[in-house]
Amino acid sequence: MSRSARAFAAAKRYLPGGVNSPVRSFRAVGGAPPFIRRGAGAYLWDVDGRKYLDFCLSWGVHILGHNPPAVVRAVRRTLADGLSFGAPTELETQLAKLLASAIPSLEKIRLVSSGTEATMSALKLARYYTGRRKIVMLEGGYHGHAEQPEILRAPFNDRPAMEKIFARHKNKIAALIIEPVPANMGVVLPEAGYLAFLRELTAAQKTVLIFDEVITGFRLGWGGAQNYFGVTPDLTCLGKIIGGGLPAAAYGGKEELMSLIAPEGPVYQAGTLAGNPPAMAAGLAVLRELQKPRTYQTLQKNTEYFFTELSRRLPPDVQLNHLGAMFTLFFTAAKARDYRSAQTSSLKKFARFYHKLLRAGVYFSPAQFEADFISARHTPAELGRTLEIILAALAA
Ligand SMILES: Cc1ncc(COP(=O)(O)O)c(C=O)c1O
Repeated sequence: MSRSARAFAAAKRYLPGGVNSPVRSFRAVGGAPPFIRRGAGAYLWDVDGRKYLDFCLSWGVHILGHNPPAVVRAVRRTLADGLSFGAPTELETQLAKLLASAIPSLEKIRLVSSGTEATMSALKLARYYTGRRKIVMLEGGYHGHAEQPEILRAPFNDRPAMEKIFARHKNKIAALIIEPVPANMGVVLPEAGYLAFLRELTAAQKTVLIFDEVITGFRLGWGGAQNYFGVTPDLTCLGKIIGGGLPAAAYGGKEELMSLIAPEGPVYQAGTLAGNPPAMAAGLAVLRELQKPRTYQTLQKNTEYFFTELSRRLPPDVQLNHLGAMFTLFFTAAKARDYRSAQTSSLKKFARFYHKLLRAGVYFSPAQFEADFISARHTPAELGRTLEIILAALAA
């Protein structure tokens, strides 16, 4: 029995399913998950000493790879002065200022500790601001695990369906929350003009448009999806990359809305560890690396060849969706353009493919309806090698 298998059995004694977040349990692909001992650059090592080229990257967190020296140095410096004070620090303003400079729609920002907190707080704010209860989400969209009442679901990329919901619930919808590029049904791209259409539709009924950029923020480039597509939401949620591997997330937007947040306004939202110094230091260090033009340029150059070659050489019953440094392979002949078409992917084929990759030392996100990610530390040689491993696994 491997040490990972023993560790998983021991974990199951105390943790539901042996994990602290369900998708880590490998239910979607079967088998026992490798337990990880350490990460460096583009690689992970498990407790049995196996080495993997990592395309999960803590679910999109590590755009600079694991343990980037500049980030580790910044966190170490902060640790020397203490872990958490529950009192304001200058680092919080520095991070907020940098986020606002990258994403101009962030007139004011509240820092929180997880993406779930960011989205649930943004929804609470939108409900208070509009005095309405209903929230529209997309089929297959994920915005954290908080339970939300009065949710209406619409298929992605379907304008008539969305118009129908807004007509039926006219002036009763508090917010439309959307991942501008959904990654939680696998990566699916918005069709031309779809996000601008949502902007117009929501503005016409004074519905708050929330972009959940927990994944896309700083993944699609400096300024996130809203900069990439040129569509400005009322509120934006961020997470993952902005904490550099420590718990930090944020929501923010128009002054008019954000001034309703306590203590300026009546919408109560608080956090013992919100804006805690090591997380702020990590986030700042990551963003400062991303601000150097060569970081995104390198990422773009390295991924371009990988995606072009992969698209060209895939068999016709496998589809690649990708944008920026994120992608998903679907095991279907139909292009995934919404949740329903994504669901035509064969989960059995995905699971077989997944384990072939794992045996070859390539760690993908262990579920079909998730994204895989590439970091600035994945070299062209590593991506080229991965390309051949993927194609061999598909051919076998
Ligand atoms: C788009 C999106 N929103 C929100 C969340 C929730 O973030 P967290 O896991 O930090 O609570 C996630 C998590 O994967 C996400 O992908």
